[in-house]
Amino acid sequence: MCGIIGYTGGKQASPILIKGLERLEYRGYDSSGIAVLDGTNIGIIKTRGKVEALKKKTDGGNKPHGTVGIGHTRWATHGVPSDVNSHPHLSQDGRFAVVHNGIIENYAEIKSDLESKGVVFASDTDSEVIAQLAAYLYNGNMTDTVRAVCERLVGSYAVGIISTEAPDTVYAMRKDNPLVIGLGKNENFIASDIAAALEHTHEFVQLGDGEFARLTSHTATFFDRDGNRIEKTPYSIDWDISRAEKAGYPHFMLKEIYEQPRAITDTVRPRIKGNEIVLDKIVLDAHNVNSIDKIDIIGCGSAYHAGIVGKSFIEKYCRIRVNCVLASEYIYSDPITDNRTLTIIISQSGETADTLAALKLAKKSGSHTVAVVNVLESAIAREADDVLYTHAGPEIAVATTKGYTTQVAALYLIGLKMARIKHNISEDRYKSLLRKITELPEKVQHILDDTSKIKTFAEKYSSHKCVFFIGRGTDYAASLEGALKLKEISYIHAEAYAAGELKHGTISLIEKGTITIAIVTQSALQQKMLSNIKAVQSRYGSVLAIATPKTSDVGEFCDGMFVMPECDDDLSPVLTAVALQLFAYYVAADRGCDIDKPRNLAKSVTVE
Ligand code: F6R
Repeated sequence: MCGIIGYTGGKQASPILIKGLERLEYRGYDSSGIAVLDGTNIGIIKTRGKVEALKKKTDGGNKPHGTVGIGHTRWATHGVPSDVNSHPHLSQDGRFAVVHNGIIENYAEIKSDLESKGVVFASDTDSEVIAQLAAYLYNGNMTDTVRAVCERLVGSYAVGIISTEAPDTVYAMRKDNPLVIGLGKNENFIASDIAAALEHTHEFVQLGDGEFARLTSHTATFFDRDGNRIEKTPYSIDWDISRAEKAGYPHFMLKEIYEQPRAITDTVRPRIKGNEIVLDKIVLDAHNVNSIDKIDIIGCGSAYHAGIVGKSFIEKYCRIRVNCVLASEYIYSDPITDNRTLTIIISQSGETADTLAALKLAKKSGSHTVAVVNVLESAIAREADDVLYTHAGPEIAVATTKGYTTQVAALYLIGLKMARIKHNISEDRYKSLLRKITELPEKVQHILDDTSKIKTFAEKYSSHKCVFFIGRGTDYAASLEGALKLKEISYIHAEAYAAGELKHGTISLIEKGTITIAIVTQSALQQKMLSNIKAVQSRYGSVLAIATPKTSDVGEFCDGMFVMPECDDDLSPVLTAVALQLFAYYVAADRGCDIDKPRNLAKSVTVE
């Protein structure tokens, strides 16, 4: 969703802000803008549309002049996308400029209060109240003013403020919305995610909820919600900026698909010591594991789909009941959760608002919470009792790929470790699964080495209006993710069904020209799948199969088949995901879609 970058230092701010905004484009936005302080005045340039348009308006980032500034990409919530509703917002006296992510819930009340005192608003946004309020509350002390502004705001926010009253300073504050402080040499940054500042520094500090920061080129000072100074410990990011660049690929999504062998290796390898699985600092010993009588896995979108794969694996090998729940449903469901429930929270970004709310609720109910998260020090990583990082590296394309497969790999490790503790798996099976998990990257690589067949299928069927995905067991879980990938980036209507459910309604939609992708990797369910495939074909529908060498007999009854490398039935969702990501990618590419930034979607969904 919206993105923030801020700079104070010795260089011209505008080019740094524009570059930072380009790096935030992937979050999804509809307008952008920058505000720069030249020591006396604040210059603002903003526009509806892409950062490219902003770049033109600023002469390629050459104006406004000044070495202190803030920039923003906006994803409209209050007020249509327009030049005037774009950020930064300026107070009516021109002294304060503000960029804001999140939603100010009491903005209407603050607005009418200020209007009654003669303040005239320029935009329809909730965010403008922050700039007007700062100007109204200013008492000669900027730090005090920022604290007083925080005190009045209800809702979620990450905010950057500059003011002519403190011409060398950027202020930042946050609550329930991501914001990091980048510490450079004689320069400092604020950013809604590290990608925006990573080419300037690898040292970051996370602002906690309710905290705020005062940055000059040489100092970074932090305060708690009451205005007391606090110390914060920086952490280092070892991601290289090249990881956040396309490196010759036409799209980030394709690059990230190709990064999966490395990402899965980095997630799995460091946790396997001989025959032991060591999950960082997470204590999963006999006492803890045996006291659990239920596991809740919670996430949104693809993270939820990873949870469904995890559910069947964990239930099969641990014999513990697992509920996989959508975060947005969990928070309003009055969940039956207590200290005998282990809650596994899954999130690539670590910032998804629904997932964060679910995590807080699970903790409040007494459950022990483990977060499977990609982004270091993100809100979910910090809030959970324990965290297991997936080491996917920065994921820029809106549609997750390596984020998803590394989540599945992490869940395999958690499940396998608990299964061994509970003595529900033979030592032979444990060792064989462990070995096969470490072999997943090379099998993924095998698929990536020759994508021509998937590309040919994709181009053949890219003009179709509707695609069904069917599978049974863990193949059904893989279908859900395949359908989501296709619909979000190609805008083709796609639905996943448990294959056995077709006859209970959906089959009435099958007709000539309908495409069904049948995932058949479970040897035990192959015959059942075959019956489902035949039922589709009897209604003149076309069927493409995704199979393994063991199940490839189904190809005889299909209109086309992609055979993946041999794989353990329990681990096939990782390979299937890669094949279906490629299918979705090539369909979308053939249709000329904006693959990395699909319409209406945002990478990090920080509002409920
Ligand atoms: C789909 C996709 C989304 C995310 C979902 C959760 O390709 O990327 O469905 O999986 O928004 O995001 P995180 O994992 O960041 O919590």
